[in-house]
Amino acid sequence: MTTLIVNGITHSYDGDPEMPLLWYLRDELGLTGTKFGCGIAQCGACTVHLGGSAARACVTPMAAVEGMEITTIEGLSPDGNHPVQVAWRDLNVAQCGYCQAGQIMQAVSLLKNTPNPSDDDIDTAMGGNICRCGTYPRIRAAIKRAASKDTKGARL
Ligand code: FES
Ligand code: FES
Repeated sequence: MTTLIVNGITHSYDGDPEMPLLWYLRDELGLTGTKFGCGIAQCGACTVHLGGSAARACVTPMAAVEGMEITTIEGLSPDGNHPVQVAWRDLNVAQCGYCQAGQIMQAVSLLKNTPNPSDDDIDTAMGGNICRCGTYPRIRAAIKRAASKDTKGARL
């Protein structure tokens, strides 16, 4: 039996301990904002927060999340107005949108640890999040915009 907390709600899981967390989030909890891209930790589409840090849900087995707090894109803000989400909207970052939940979760994790990231910091933190639409310049601009806001009290 695995107990985990997803977006503030405690759940129990009694299935295959090797099943990826991504399957559980999407298929069992219906949290489909987190996407499946490569399945081998090479694209970042499945990025969630484990214990407050970005992690790839496609390669995280259920056995590894016992007692952990997990946040998905659905849990980032009750109304979709996390400062990073606002910056993303302000700058129309998304194109097809498929990678963007993962991009946002990775960016929030970056800003939590590095509130005013340099270009190098952004490149390093975001390098594993692939966007086939090439929205990288807007992603960078949106991260800087979010970093420049007064985010006191925000859940960065
Ligand atoms: S689906 Fe997890 S990194 Fe690509
Ligand atoms: S917006 Fe299309 S893959 Fe990133």
